[in-house]
Amino acid sequence: MSRKTEDGAIGIFDSGIGGLTVMREIMRILPQENLIYLGDTARVPYGIRSRETVQRYAVENATFLLSQNIKLIVVACNTVSAVGIDAIREITDVPVIGVLKPGARAAVKNTVKKRVGVIGTEATIQSSAYQKEIKSLKNDIDVLTKACPLFVPLVEEGWLEGDIVEAIISTYLSELKESGIDTLVLGCTHYPLLKKSIQRVMGNEVRLIDSAVETARAVRELLHEKGLISSSDKQGYRAFYVTDSPDRFRNIGERFLGCQIQEIKKIQIPYRIN
Ligand code: DGL
Repeated sequence: MSRKTEDGAIGIFDSGIGGLTVMREIMRILPQENLIYLGDTARVPYGIRSRETVQRYAVENATFLLSQNIKLIVVACNTVSAVGIDAIREITDVPVIGVLKPGARAAVKNTVKKRVGVIGTEATIQSSAYQKEIKSLKNDIDVLTKACPLFVPLVEEGWLEGDIVEAIISTYLSELKESGIDTLVLGCTHYPLLKKSIQRVMGNEVRLIDSAVETARAVRELLHEKGLISSSDKQGYRAFYVTDSPDRFRNIGERFLGCQIQEIKKIQIPYRIN
């Protein structure tokens, strides 16, 4: 049973390694917090799966995190944030925060032309979750969306810059570029790593919204609000769990996280609590 006290950890999960971009931001602005990360590397990618499957995976991942002493769940995956977050809220009263609302809020704040672009996986874009969220905040904003399925494998392979990368980005984003948006939400965990190249393609007049940065801020606000922020003056511990081989996770993950990862444990999902 999870105890919701300030000593509890923040449990973060993603379909794989991409959510480490969110963890990195949380580490940066909340270094004293204990963090437990789960990457469901055996079942990634989620972005091409059905709503039902993503919901089941989401609940199974959350069940593992809830077996640890956590005070908050951060859904660091856009696809789960778009289609699976309510399924998690049904099984726990531990607060759950996704990456979608903070990104949508930042986009609404930023747009002057009232034209916002959103890019993400096929499942995220098909769900229209960003559109609904942005419209619920401000009804007169036009939201233009585009699924960019090749971006995830590009990042996984470490292809972040260069002519080929920019050619692929241009192919996906040419219509959005012509559409007169002034704000583009990077609605997928992996896309912040392509930020430089995406910015180059879109031009400097388009502001890119990095959901990782916005989510970390939202986590800090929520912890303050609930009186759950750690008052420790030491750096918190970081624990890493994966559902497939830790080796690949370590290699690519250290690049996402921007620092070394000490120990990575492999677990079985669905996780059984004894
Ligand atoms: N984590 C996913 C997301 O942010 C991207 C990778 C996947 O498709 O699982 O949507």
